[in-house]
Amino acid sequence: MKSRAPLFDRLVGHVQTKPVSLHVPGHKFGQGLASDAQPFYQGVMAIDATEITGLDDLHHPEEAILEAQQLAAACFGAEETFFLVGGSTVGNLAMVTSVCRTGDILIVQRNVHKSVIHGLMLAGARAVFVSPQYDAVSGRTAGVKVNDIKYALEHYPQAKGVLLTNPNYYGIGIDLREMADLVHRYGKPLLIDEAHGAHYGFHPSIPESALASGADVVVQSTHKMLSAMTMGAMMHVQGKRVDRIILKQRLAMLQSSSPSYPLMASIDLARREMDELGEQLMEQGLLAVKYFCDQMSRLPRFQIHNQTEMQDPFKITITDKSRNLNGPALAQELEQRGCYPEMSDINNVLLLFTLHSTIEDAQRVTQAFVDIANGGSTILHENQNLQENQITSDVMINPSFLEDDLIGVSEPVPFDTFSIFDEQSECVDLIEAVGRRSAEMIIPYPPGIPIVYPGEVIRDKIVTYIQQLIEANVRFQGSFIGSTRKIHVKIDK
Ligand SMILES: Cc1ncc(COP(=O)(O)O)c(C=O)c1O
Repeated sequence: MKSRAPLFDRLVGHVQTKPVSLHVPGHKFGQGLASDAQPFYQGVMAIDATEITGLDDLHHPEEAILEAQQLAAACFGAEETFFLVGGSTVGNLAMVTSVCRTGDILIVQRNVHKSVIHGLMLAGARAVFVSPQYDAVSGRTAGVKVNDIKYALEHYPQAKGVLLTNPNYYGIGIDLREMADLVHRYGKPLLIDEAHGAHYGFHPSIPESALASGADVVVQSTHKMLSAMTMGAMMHVQGKRVDRIILKQRLAMLQSSSPSYPLMASIDLARREMDELGEQLMEQGLLAVKYFCDQMSRLPRFQIHNQTEMQDPFKITITDKSRNLNGPALAQELEQRGCYPEMSDINNVLLLFTLHSTIEDAQRVTQAFVDIANGGSTILHENQNLQENQITSDVMINPSFLEDDLIGVSEPVPFDTFSIFDEQSECVDLIEAVGRRSAEMIIPYPPGIPIVYPGEVIRDKIVTYIQQLIEANVRFQGSFIGSTRKIHVKIDK
């Protein structure tokens, strides 16, 4: 059974009968495809079908899609699995709106992806934010402390659950077993955004998965660390703490009624690949990682931050110790040499390897770093006279706004979809915004994690941090435009 990909097989079987399409999509299996598009799209359009007889229905699966989802549940260790065609984004929206109603409290890691915040807005729920730990040497945020979650659970017994991101964008995670035990002792569900950890549990060098640790609902981007097409994701469920009928209903509300078959079939194929070759492919990818890290150890100018215990080895964070290049500048140098990192933050670049990375990829990126170290770089910073190996926490730019939170747990923050944007607002210079309530979310992208929420009082430390981000050419999503140095704030009556 495991060696089958029921949905992909069913689609191929359908195409091979040379059917006449009298249904959507209008391209009719790519019949009218322009000649320049053909080499790229022909194969995909040939399986771009819809919910016709024999091809099942994502919103009411009974045949090939049901079978594919059941195989995925068995492969990833879930009781039930749902394919998602809107990425982990839609999974997070469904997860939050399933457990929360208007005014409900959810205990949420502060640095969650914006989709979690959007879920809170849709539900009209309130978040009790728990600040993550902070790694001063690399300038990266890490996981939350079990004691902070305990504090939040004790102070907010009415909370509907706990939602954490694990691992985070940098591949840093925490031991979720202890967390799951704690949250369950309080009778609440543990919801995990495992967008970056679909490969967890498939190799001894990779941490165990959130499901294996006991989480109740887990959302994974199958397209990020495994090989589904972009937007392909899964939601896994176990136990009875979250109502699955409501979850399904939320997914039906939030997902397209015409989900892409090539996309769903690619999720099916990604599962088959993990069932058949998972550990072996991971081993190959890890060899590329090892090659790269070994080569980089000969370039003292660059520091790889992989010292934390719960670190995904496929995610490699690198700092230019000479501080000639901050994160975005180093990313730019790599891009000029044909190597495109996953993201840069103000201090670092993040490289993402996977089970399909090759030694050749590792050689190319190593060569790019060698070239930069040999003086190919044209961008200079005022800190350039720092000696190699002199990297210390004080040269890293810290998101120090986190440090104001003495206990790491916030008061409940209300979210709603409309009134927050309906309230009157005005656009002011960033420095004049201190003490005012923000009317917008400030979202450096990547990673798409908001640092200011609508309604939040803007502190001077946040303004300083935003200015540092702007100076470092970090991009922002949403209405905030860094170059204007202006922000929308509410007009309080
Ligand atoms: C932690 C986290 N959760 C969720 C998402 C959304 O995932 P997707 O792009 O699959 O919708 C992202 C995207 O980067 C993310 O970093």
